[in-house]
This record gives sequence, C-alpha cells and structure tokens, in this order.
Amino acid sequence: MIKNDLFLRALRGETVSRPPVWMMRQAGRYLPEFMAIREKYDFFTRCQTPELASEITVQPIRRYGMDAAILFSDILVIPQAMGIEVQMKPDFGPYLPHPIRSKKEVDAIRVPDAAEALDYVMQAIRMTKEKLADEVPLIGFAGSPWTILCYCVQGQGSKSFDKAKALCFSDPRAAHALLQKITDTTIDYLKAKVRAGVDAVQVFDSWGGMLSPEDYQEFSWHYIQQIIDALKEDTEVIVFGKGCWFALGEMAKSGASAIGIDWTCSARNARYLTGGKITLQGNFDPARLLSPPDEITRRVTEMIRAFGKDRYIANLGHGILPNIPLENARAFVDAVKNFKE
Ligand code: CP3
Repeated sequence: MIKNDLFLRALRGETVSRPPVWMMRQAGRYLPEFMAIREKYDFFTRCQTPELASEITVQPIRRYGMDAAILFSDILVIPQAMGIEVQMKPDFGPYLPHPIRSKKEVDAIRVPDAAEALDYVMQAIRMTKEKLADEVPLIGFAGSPWTILCYCVQGQGSKSFDKAKALCFSDPRAAHALLQKITDTTIDYLKAKVRAGVDAVQVFDSWGGMLSPEDYQEFSWHYIQQIIDALKEDTEVIVFGKGCWFALGEMAKSGASAIGIDWTCSARNARYLTGGKITLQGNFDPARLLSPPDEITRRVTEMIRAFGKDRYIANLGHGILPNIPLENARAFVDAVKNFKE
C-alpha cells in the first residue's frame, strides 16, 4: 500500500484533509541536481537509461516532497517506437528529420509491440517504484494522438502547426489513419506502464487548443476517448488539454478520473463547465512562480479556496518554466501542504 495516498484519494473523489500537490514537468529543468546529470548525458540517453530516468524522477520528491512523482521520459518516445526518427536538439527542441506528409508515408508506419519497443521505460518504472518505496504514487504519461501527430507531421515545434493542420484538412483519411496508429500504440504503451507499476496515467494534449471546437472533436477528442475507454478499468486517467476549455463538458463525461485545467480558465468556470462533481487539477500560471514567495503562498491559498479542497489536485496550469527560483517552487508546494480550511 502507498503511504501517502492523498493523490489517489483525490482522484477517487474522496474527502481529504488537504489537496495533494505536484507540478507538471517537475522532473528536471529548474533543479541543479538535474542540470548536473544533463551536463553529462544527452536527452534520449537520460530517457533510455533506467538508472538515470528513475534518479531524475525522484529528485523533486526528495527536495520538495510532492504528493506524486511523474516518470522522467518524453511523449516523443511513441513516434520513436513507431520507427520515426526523433532528435532533441539543444536550444531548439524536438526535430524529426523525416516528417510524415502523405498517406503512403502513414501506411508505411508500423504499430509496434510497445512493451517490447519501450522496455527501457518499463525498467525505469520498476526501478523508480523501488526508489519511491511506496512513499508516494507514480504517474505515467503519454501525449494525446493529436499532439503526437503535430510533431510527426510538422517535424518540429511550431506556433501554428500549419503543416499538421494541412494534412488533417487536405487529406483527412491519411490524418485519421495516422491518429489511429498512434492511438493503438499509445493504448498498448499505457497498459504496459500500468503493468510495470504506475499508479495513474496522464494524457497531455498540449496542442489541443490549436484546433477549433469542431475540429477538436474529430481530430483529438475522438482518440483521447478511445484511450480513456481502454484504460479506465486498469487505472486512474487524467486528461490535460491546454487551451481546451471548450471541451471540458465532454471531458467530464468521459470516464476520466480527473481533468487538468490551464490558467486561462477560472476555477469557477472550470467547475461550472465540468458539472461540479469531477476532480480537477491545476491551474497556477507557471509564470506566477516568478512572484515573490509570500505572494505565491497567498495566491495558492486563494486558488485552493476557489477550487475547493476536495476533488482537487493542486498543480500548475502547464509545465514549470526553467528559470524558476528554487525557493519559489518550494513556496508553491508548501502553500498546499500547509493549507488549512
Ligand atoms: O516532469 C517531467 O518533466 C517529466 C518528464 C517530461 C518531459 N517531457 C521531459 C523533458 C514530460 C511529462 C514531458 C512531456 C512533453 N514533452 C510534452 C507535454 C507536456 C507539455 O509541456 O506540454 C511535450 C509537448 C513534449 C515535447 C518536448 N520535449 C518539447 C517541446 C521539448 C523541448 C522544450 C522543453 O520542454 O524543454 C522537450 C524536451 C524535454 N522533455 C526536456 C525535458 C526535461 C528538456 C530537454 C532536456 O532536458 O535536455
């Protein structure tokens, strides 16, 4: 049994003494102990070496004592497992030298045995579970099929993902074939992660908000719903869609255990749009961690009051920024841990 089960209890909608807290992208970036490892090993070496991935995963827990750990890895290991080359270029981000742009290229992509192709992730999970020694739960994750398609087709990050949209709107059959292959691989992968020991999974739809509400249903939500349907009997599923406030009603009815909220949606509106019964997670503006610690404490307390202490997981509205002072990250975590009604 897990000793600190606040996070799992919040996911199940149980009453808690205070909300649990973790931070999206908490493993890495702003931590000096992470930067020391980063200097020695390139990105995918860190992901593919279970000793390194598990060490990076537990670093923020040791330093700050969050209520959940998230496995150090990346959403782009899925296209890699499907045979698509992915590089991580320093000061540039993901780069895919052979982007997928036609139905012919989609048809050539294989759906791998994810447990086998991504065995290093399963090993990292088992090693992390040992290091965590049942102190806190471990979260596994994947990108949404739409967000993965964005990188596979665009070939790199983008402000508009115009080439990804171009495939969807000019050759929807090719786009849907690709989305289905990504979905099948992702379901297989997340099920293997659950068997390896993760206690919950989060689907990151980082680029869902690039789509109109109508296109979101067709190109993103349809596939996320398949993932939820396939996983919900096995584990707790959290769905986070950045910029997807328009889909919150749909998400609340999906069978997911919790919905991630970004900072552009108020707590009141998020509760209203989701019907008030489902667990919500979020939504501190990551840039607000640049405010002085006292102000962070005050704003976090207000945020908890606005969401309510139950059916709530305190988190950021998106990933932590690399330039956050260590004491400010601590102020965020401590404000939640010290919350009293
Ligand atoms: O808490 C954690 O950080 C766990 C590990 C984690 C990483 N990536 C490690 C990483 C998680 C949960 C992700 C998810 C991810 N990766 C997303 C979805 C979440 C989100 O922020 O929207 C996306 C879109 C990616 C793709 C990706 N990976 C990008 C765009 C970049 C470059 C920019 C950046 O975020 O720094 C990456 C690289 C990456 N993934 C880094 C880390 C720690 C930084 C590179 C490095 O350490 O060398």
